Amino acid sequence: MSERIRLGVNIDHVATIRNARGGLHPDPFRAAEIVSGAGGDGLTIHLREDRRHIRDEDLQRVRDASELPINLEMAATPEMLDIALRFKPETAMFVPEKREERTTEGGLDAARQHNHLAPFIRQLKDNGSKVSLFIEPDMVQLAAAHQLGASITEFHTGRFVELCQAGEGALAGEELERIRACAERAVELGIEPQAGHGLTYDTVTPIAEIPELTELNIGHFIIGEAVFVGLEAAIREMRRLMDEARA
Ligand code: PXP
Repeated sequence: MSERIRLGVNIDHVATIRNARGGLHPDPFRAAEIVSGAGGDGLTIHLREDRRHIRDEDLQRVRDASELPINLEMAATPEMLDIALRFKPETAMFVPEKREERTTEGGLDAARQHNHLAPFIRQLKDNGSKVSLFIEPDMVQLAAAHQLGASITEFHTGRFVELCQAGEGALAGEELERIRACAERAVELGIEPQAGHGLTYDTVTPIAEIPELTELNIGHFIIGEAVFVGLEAAIREMRRLMDEARA
């Protein structure tokens, strides 16, 4: 079909388990090493304002563990900007962040937040990072991301996954078409389209089949599956399904 689609593995939840007990185990450093050896193409980590999983000291340790590019998810705050400017991730991804949410609930409102986001994006790009915006598969948001000069947009696949899991096949099909149309338009605009959130073995194939998508970022399911089969095996199986989708 088309070239290989990259797999970015989000290792936040290794740190969630570590933090549940305090101490050092399980260590995101080791997770990063395993991702590199198991066919992962990138590492995603989200430094949240409340440090509920990844902590400041993890950033450098994850970098030291692997040669893989790092996608740093972050809120558009002065504190995070300062950290990202010092850390220089390959990609800085802006996500909306609410303290009370369990995970990133929706995409960024890039259209409404233009004036707030613009200086953050400019500084990070000038500092050598690509900038990604996590948005819903929505043409208005995509146009706003383009205006803001985003290098990448990651389309939120959460709704697609939820509809699949609820047995709402027709609505899931419509959501899939929205993701596909946005991926096509992103390429026309010169933006690299990626996707992620909530993806599982059962839902990854139709997303990975969208030829324009260059990368999927997957975390919770892989780390959960790793409890049963080990992290390396969980990554390899996701990788296999993604490769099969592109075969
Ligand atoms: N992409 C973004 C922007 C996210 O915030 C997350 C979750 O941290 C993911 C992808 C991965 O989602 P999941 O953990 O549900 O696979």
